[in-house]
Amino acid sequence: MSELVIKNGKLVLPDKIFEGDISIDAGIISKVGKDLKGDKVVNAEGNYILPGLIDVHVHFREPGASSKEDWNTGSFAAASSGITTVLDMPNTQPPTTTVKLLDKKREIAASKSTVDFGFHFGASTENMDELRKVEKIASVKFYMSSTIGNLFVGNDAVLFEELKILAERDIPGIFHAENREMVQHYMQRLINEGRTDPEAYSDARPNICAAEAVNRIIFLSKMAKNRLHFCHVSTKEEVDIIARNKSILPLTAEVCPHHLFLNKEDLRKLGSLVKTNPPLRSKEDQNALWKGIQDGTIDVIATDHAPHLMESKEKDIWSAPAGVPGVETMLPLLLNEVNKGNLTLNQLAKLTSENPARIFRIKDKGKIKEGYDADLVIIDLKKEKKVRNDKLFTKCGWSPFDGWKLKGWPVMTFIRGNLIFDNGDINKIKGREVSYG
Ligand code: DOR
Ligand code: ZN
Ligand code: ZN
Repeated sequence: MSELVIKNGKLVLPDKIFEGDISIDAGIISKVGKDLKGDKVVNAEGNYILPGLIDVHVHFREPGASSKEDWNTGSFAAASSGITTVLDMPNTQPPTTTVKLLDKKREIAASKSTVDFGFHFGASTENMDELRKVEKIASVKFYMSSTIGNLFVGNDAVLFEELKILAERDIPGIFHAENREMVQHYMQRLINEGRTDPEAYSDARPNICAAEAVNRIIFLSKMAKNRLHFCHVSTKEEVDIIARNKSILPLTAEVCPHHLFLNKEDLRKLGSLVKTNPPLRSKEDQNALWKGIQDGTIDVIATDHAPHLMESKEKDIWSAPAGVPGVETMLPLLLNEVNKGNLTLNQLAKLTSENPARIFRIKDKGKIKEGYDADLVIIDLKKEKKVRNDKLFTKCGWSPFDGWKLKGWPVMTFIRGNLIFDNGDINKIKGREVSYG
């Protein structure tokens, strides 16, 4: 007799859908099978069950900007939408570029997060010694141009030396790839021309900015021999370059829902609200991202959840901060695509759970499998609901997808066997830092 059994689910396993039960003991999946018995039973009522989503790209803003989000609200938002683990980015204030600052962030997350968590460490021009000694991190993040938080490595020699340190230590490097000089050049030109229309923001960071940076990093990583992962791929050129180099390099790539579901047209309509780095692109770029998902060039879908307060977003296109929230909408947006026949549930699980765990070597997560953490999401594929700003858990209180009617929603989320989201209600638990294998 197990402690808990989730019965009558359609379980999304790595290579198939299996109709049956999951038994859970001490937070771990003890068995996947049929007719399992438990002290407590949850009836999944024929709904699908996914492995909990691992969002490898969030900005939960603590320390430094807790008016926008904190580990409490951010993790509630994640839990309500099937995300059971998050990896937080280092562009907080102060940025996470020393072991000491990382330890402070660990403490904050451990005391406030309801979901499990891990961290990307920040590379700066000055922190090579820290890169040599930091432990228990998912990766080291390189901002190649300055974005929110003013953390970046703008010197290729330093960047290359840092990549060599990562290679020695077998830590992946992950990249916000935009060419800084190009961005500055085009931006200044458009500002001088007097452009203030929202689309000017996309024009100020044309595709070449991202493509050149990706191309350069691929070359430097080839020479340094480090593992590399590209965050928020947004252009058809990047998809091409990545596809051509995937077979010869330990190279993985991520796309984000805002680039998959929004384009320049939405920037024209919604203005600064959907200003983000890298910016929204053309329909053609969007199609290339979807094609990259289908042909395996893209390994991960992650949110780049980057909350900013509405009042700051009400500024003009040059002054508003860049970034959009995303943890609450990623899963329903993708389930809606499953319903439309554009994505299978097995693909979804691979892109949002199995591959993230594999790429960042997160132990015992990413699959519905005996011995793995019981991080599970029960989804109702037939449930239709509108995204509504007034129903969100994120502290920023808005979504670029407000008003979108989506079919396919999570109804229950479990972390290590704890029911943390139950049809709209959150049960606060203590999230735990992940381990790396
Ligand atoms: O648009 C963005 N916002 N891009 C980034 O790289 C950072 C992020 C943020 O932290 O707001
Ligand atoms: Zn970024
Ligand atoms: Zn980001």
